[in-house]
Parts: sequence; structure tokens; C-alpha cells
Amino acid sequence: MTGAHHEKVALVTGAAGGIGLATAERLGREGAAVVLVDNQVEPLQRAAAAMVAQGQTVLAVPADIGKEDEALGCVDAAVDAFGRLDIVVNAAGIQPYGTVVDTDLADWERVFAVNLTAIFLISKRAIPMMLAQGGGVIVNIASVQSLASSARVAAYAASKAGVLGLTRSIAVDHARDGIRANAICPGSVDTPLLRFSAEANRGDRSVEDMIAGWGAMHPVGRVGRAEEIAGLASYLAGPDAAFINGAAITIDGGVMAKLGIVLPE
Ligand SMILES: NC(=O)c1ccc[n+]([C@@H]2O[C@H](COP(=O)([O-])OP(=O)(O)OC[C@H]3O[C@@H](n4cnc5c(N)ncnc54)[C@H](O)[C@@H]3O)[C@@H](O)[C@H]2O)c1
Repeated sequence: MTGAHHEKVALVTGAAGGIGLATAERLGREGAAVVLVDNQVEPLQRAAAAMVAQGQTVLAVPADIGKEDEALGCVDAAVDAFGRLDIVVNAAGIQPYGTVVDTDLADWERVFAVNLTAIFLISKRAIPMMLAQGGGVIVNIASVQSLASSARVAAYAASKAGVLGLTRSIAVDHARDGIRANAICPGSVDTPLLRFSAEANRGDRSVEDMIAGWGAMHPVGRVGRAEEIAGLASYLAGPDAAFINGAAITIDGGVMAKLGIVLPE
């Protein structure tokens, strides 16, 4: 299979659904061998089987990346299978709701383990492989909540702000090694995570109504599609993005461009 990522090996976390799945499919269509990592085993196997049926080269690695050995182990599995690792897309994430007051320490630590520490661990294991090869690319899915917060997402927003700091550190430390790291900050995107949030918060409203309401808050008037985020991840992973390093790129229909304060006429 030819394409922008021909002969590359990519590892994508959170690849059983949403943005991670769309990114894995996109990288696979563009020629990469793709290692799909997720802790939802059956959806992961289904996603991998669907990609294999389309002629793509795929390895499914069930792993809870919130655990140190499993986060490190998924990189080892990729290298054992394919002998190299060119692209890492860290898309796995969890978003429980809570203020600082009503977030337990255990919940806080779990959010940080999955959303931030896993990226540290996967990078820690992947970068030496990339150094030995002469380069590689890391793309981290952060959030607009890395840049501005909404209500009751204290742990999530803090972990996602941390993703930007970690991304910048990798970018600065390894730029001369041919390794680039960038973060993507999506606004609301229609994925299982967003639908779960809609279900949890909908009250008397329907999930579709909730999603349309979130869409209306975005200047373009709709929520994003997972494929749109995947397209940016694929671009950042490819050679046309060679001069993009340490960036936090919003893809949010204009949400971060919009001032929330309404001025009097
Ligand atoms: N959907 C949005 O509106 C939105 C907006 C901004 C940022 N994001 C971020 O984008 C990323 C993808 O989100 P999504 O909306 O596609 O979510 P999703 O829930 O649809 O998909 C996330 C995937 O990560 C997996 N995952 C969760 N915990 C894991 C763990 N411990 N180990 C391995 N896999 C695990 C899940 O099983 C799931 O398949 C997340 O980091 C999320 O924070 C999403």
C-alpha cells in the first residue's frame, strides 16, 4: 500500500474508538503498518479485523496504558512485531466530571495516569527506538481544555494542560535528533466519549439535542468529526509538517477564537 506513510510503523493508543480509531484507519490507508492499542478488547479486535479486511497491516495490542508495565509493553510489542517505530499518536483519554472539591485523589491519579503519565511512559520507551532509527514523530491529542477550562473538569483540564508541557519538552529535547512532537487541541468532536458526556449530562434533553447544543457553541455551528482530527494527526506525522515542532494546534471550529464575554450593543 502506498501513501504518505508508506513503510512507516505507527502506534495509536485509544484505537478502539473515536479519534484514535479514525487516526489508525487514516494512517493505515496512507500506508503505515498500525499498532492499535486499547483496553476495550472486543472493540479493539473488531477495529483491527476491519482494517485487515481492507488490506492493511495491523497489530492489536490490548493494554491498559494507565499501568506502567502495559504502557511500556505496547511499545515493546510494536517493535517486536515490526522492528521499528516511526509514529506515535497518543489518543487514549478519559474525562470524568468533577470540581477539585468533589474529585477523589484516586480519580485524579487515574486521570493523570491515562491522560498524561502514559504519554510520558510511551515516549520514554519509544524515543530510544526513534533515536536508533534517526527520527520519529509523536502526536499527542490534548484538548481545548488544555488552554481554557469549562465547568467540573478539574482533573481532565489539568492533565490536558500537562500534555502541552510534556509535548514541548520532548520537542525541545529531541528536535536535533530528528524527532518532532506536537499536540492537537480539539474542540467538541462526535465520538463515544462525547456521547457518553451527553448522556451523563442530558437531563430531559436527548443526546442529539445536547450534541447540537454543543455544536451551536462552536462558531462553525457544529461539533467536529473524528476524521477531521485524524486528518490533522496524519499531516503532523508526515513530511509536510517537518518544520512544525512543539506546537499546540487547535482544531475547534473557532471556539478558542471566540470571546465568551458578550459586550453591550
Ligand atoms: N471527543 C471530544 O470532544 C474530544 C475533545 C477534545 C479532546 N479529546 C481527546 O481526544 C482523545 C480521544 O477521545 P475520543 O473522544 O475519541 O474518546 P473515546 O472515548 O471515544 O475514545 C478513547 C479511547 O481510549 C481508550 N482508553 C481509555 N482509557 C484507556 C486506557 N487506560 N488504556 C487504553 N485505552 C484507553 C478507550 O477505550 C477508547 O477506545 C482523548 O484524549 C480525549 O481527551 C476529545
